Amino acid sequence: MWEKVQETVSFIKEKTNFTPEFGVILGSGLGDFTNDITIEHVLPYTEIPHFPISTVQGHKGALVFGTIQGKKVVAMQGRFHFYEGYDMKQVTFPVRVMKFLGIQKLIVSNASGGVNPAYKVGDIVVITDHINMLPEHPLRGQNDERFGPRFVNMSEPYSTALINKALELATQLKIELKSGVYLALQGPTFETLAEYKMVKAIGADCVGMSTVPEVIIARHMDLECFGISVITDMGDKENIENVNHQEVLEAAKKAEPKVRELIKNLIIYS
Ligand code: HPA
Repeated sequence: MWEKVQETVSFIKEKTNFTPEFGVILGSGLGDFTNDITIEHVLPYTEIPHFPISTVQGHKGALVFGTIQGKKVVAMQGRFHFYEGYDMKQVTFPVRVMKFLGIQKLIVSNASGGVNPAYKVGDIVVITDHINMLPEHPLRGQNDERFGPRFVNMSEPYSTALINKALELATQLKIELKSGVYLALQGPTFETLAEYKMVKAIGADCVGMSTVPEVIIARHMDLECFGISVITDMGDKENIENVNHQEVLEAAKKAEPKVRELIKNLIIYS
């Protein structure tokens, strides 16, 4: 793994000669954030050694390098999901690569189903914590100390400083933010009503199929993380019938301008 990561990093550095400070992973329907970047390089995943290829509709596949008011960013336009058939090492490989390209902070976004009754479709939720219910752990297997420790402290998976900054910026920008706990299940089925109830009972506010593996790997390497989730559907009795991918993409698209504005400002001011 170490050698693969270093090979990929060398390849990218040769192509771009770019040292990003922020890594951004763009979730379903949120890929247009790249329009906020003054783009310097675009590398399609297909051209990057050892990178998996994204297969889901609504997810593109490229690393986008550039600046936002002088802040250097690398954005993943399209991410990898466990349900696509990749193992967790593949799902999280790009996070390893971004770390060794130079990032110190990782910003992740996703679409999720809400189970907190105070949420509604279109809400933007700052992820304060997560529950990992994915069936494979990205750190299972021999640990390479060059990446990080065997046993990773997860007391602050999402940076308190970044959360506070985002809340402060949201007030200034008049963007309403909710906050909550994100629970990851493998999918690709949306949850049954009983499963949504379980998600809620277990202590989560929303549920999705991504993000947690990337954040775990980022924390393994001591990156500061910030996560944002767009509530694209509600997992309750009244709304469950309508949950489908099209609805998810449409709801995410609607919230996208606000998510973009928030992430852009977070990058500029932190
Ligand atoms: N469940 C799981 N993943 C999701 C959902 C959901 O309801 N909405 C968007 N991604």
